[in-house]
Amino acid sequence: MVMPFSRHRRLRQSANMRALVRENHLNVNDFIYPLFIVEGEKIKNEVSSMPGVFHLSLDFLEEEMKDIVSLGIKSVILFGVPAEKDECGEQAYHDHGIVQEATRFIKERFPDMIVVADTCLCEYTSHGHCGVVENGKVLNDASLELLVKTAVSQAKAGADIIAPSNMMDGFVTAIRAGLDEAGFEEIPIMSYAVKYSSAFYGPFREAADSTPQFGDRKTYQMDPSNRLEAMREAESDVAEGADFLIVKPGMPYLDIVRDVKNNFNLPVVVYNVSGEYSMVKAAALNGWIDEKNVALEMLIGMKRAGADLIITYFAKDAARWLKEQ
Ligand code: PBG
Repeated sequence: MVMPFSRHRRLRQSANMRALVRENHLNVNDFIYPLFIVEGEKIKNEVSSMPGVFHLSLDFLEEEMKDIVSLGIKSVILFGVPAEKDECGEQAYHDHGIVQEATRFIKERFPDMIVVADTCLCEYTSHGHCGVVENGKVLNDASLELLVKTAVSQAKAGADIIAPSNMMDGFVTAIRAGLDEAGFEEIPIMSYAVKYSSAFYGPFREAADSTPQFGDRKTYQMDPSNRLEAMREAESDVAEGADFLIVKPGMPYLDIVRDVKNNFNLPVVVYNVSGEYSMVKAAALNGWIDEKNVALEMLIGMKRAGADLIITYFAKDAARWLKEQ
C-alpha cells in the first residue's frame, strides 16, 4: 500500500512559482546604515576588522551620503569617534560634538534622510563604559542625566530619531521627559530594549574605540542565556513610551525577535551587529562562502523572524544586490 503524502514541490517548480508563494521580502526601505564619524580632516580609514566599513571625517561624508542616497537607503545611524575622551564622556552631549556636527551636516544637505542618533557614552568615556563610573561601578541614575543631555543635544542638532543603547534602567522615561521638556515631543525613541552582553560587538569596539578599560558590560547588558528577561525589558520600554524596539544582536537571537514581535505592537528593529558582518566578510574573503547569498539569507532570516527594520553594515551591498535581482 502506498501511503498518501503531500506534494510540497508543486509550489517550488520554477522561479516564477516560487516568487508567487514567497512569504517574506527584503526591501531597501528595511535598512538603516551605520556610519562612524571621526574628528579631523581627510580621513577615510577602513576598520580593519570590518572590510567595507570606514572611519569618515566630515569632509568625506558628503560623497558617502550621495552614494547612500543613490542606492535608495533612507536612514543612517550615527556613531561618533571623538578626538578626546574623558571620565564623563562630555563629547557625547557637547553641542559641537562629532555626532551633533555630522547630524547638522547631513540634515543641511540631505534633509529627507532619516538620521538616527545612537545615544550612549561608551565612545566618549575614557573608561569605555556606557555610564558614569564611581568606585569601579557604573551608576544608573547619574548616567541617566548625561544620557538625557546627550539625547537633547542630538535632537537640537536635527536628529530625527533618538536611539539609546546604554542599557541603564529607566532610560526611556528619562529621555522622553527630557525631549518633551526641550520641545521635542515629536522625536521618536528607538530603544535598544533588548540588548545582550555579546561577544559579537568585538569589531564595533575597534571601530568605535569603545572597549571597556576594566571589567565588562554584564552588569547592564543582558545575559545571553535569558529569554523571559527580554520580555521584561521590552515591557518596561513600551510602558515608558518607546516608539521602536531594538533586539541586538540579530542572528543568534532570532527567537527573541519573534517573541518581541508576537508580544508587542511596536515596530521591531534587529541590529545585525559588527561580529555578524565580519564573520561573513572574512569567510567570503577566504573564498569559503558566497557573500551575497549568505548575507541576503541572513537578512531575510531576520525579516522572517519578525524584523520590520534591520540596522546592518550590509545595507549598501544589499541595496545593490536587490537592484540587480
Ligand atoms: C554602544 C553600542 C555598541 C554597539 C552599538 N552601540 C557597543 C557595545 O554595547 O559595546 C554594537 C554594535 C555592533 O557591534 O555593531 N553601547
